[in-house]
Amino acid sequence: MFQTIRDRSAVFIAGMSETLDNNDDIVIRVATVDDTEQLIEFLHVHYYRDEPLTVGTEPLTPDAADVDFLRSNFPAGACLMALCNDRIVGGAIAGPKLPDIGTEIFEEARKYAGTKWGCILGMLAICERDANAFQRFNVDKIMHLNALGVDTSLRGRRIGERLVTALIARSRELDYPLLTVDCTSLYSARLIKRLGFELLNTVPYADYVNAAGQQLIRPPAPHECVQTYAMRL
Ligand code: COA
Repeated sequence: MFQTIRDRSAVFIAGMSETLDNNDDIVIRVATVDDTEQLIEFLHVHYYRDEPLTVGTEPLTPDAADVDFLRSNFPAGACLMALCNDRIVGGAIAGPKLPDIGTEIFEEARKYAGTKWGCILGMLAICERDANAFQRFNVDKIMHLNALGVDTSLRGRRIGERLVTALIARSRELDYPLLTVDCTSLYSARLIKRLGFELLNTVPYADYVNAAGQQLIRPPAPHECVQTYAMRL
């Protein structure tokens, strides 16, 4: 039974004169519905402010519909949080996808047309269509990682990797045959590739344009594309 994954290596918090070690180790656990607002608050600071789709579109803050979408994932039991001394240092928001997602996501993009969330959904709909994971792997349900965020001062220390490793275990436990993720960031793509996920598709940001040929999402360097990856479980 999946409960916690502990890592006893020392972690230094930049800007704080303390090391987090032994007693202060990192624990990863399933985020319950009761954890929703705490984790969402964390993601506002440590996910949305750097996530390429969010920072590549105006206004810089996420739309309410975007945040509500993240909230809607919690009941499925596959959202995870990394804790250090009860302080959240990372979060992974994952939820199930069903085969009609391809149609659904284009419809949602149309519903929110003209908004930041509509623009983001338009890009994700193209990724979904082109990756074609349901047909490619002949599965009837997929666990999808929708958001991954690590404390800004603790990046590059494999906390993201530990969260994804725990999500693989949790998705297996929930009996999902496939785990997918749209890596909107070069950093998340590196992490996912390192864990052995298979690359399904790449959509360059430069290719996502409006009728006038203007690029719709303009993230800062080094983020140039969305890469969809999958792992059979
Ligand atoms: N500076 C330098 N390198 C960084 C970095 C930083 N601030 N953040 C991540 N990286 C690199 C790591 O070196 C590593 O690359 P490598 O495999 O070539 O060594 C890779 O990115 C990820 O490493 P890891 O330590 O396992 O991940 P992490 O704990 O730093 O978390 C993210 C990765 C993507 C979750 C984190 O950067 C983040 O929260 N970003 C903002 C939100 C976001 O963009 N989420 C992903 C959307 S799909």
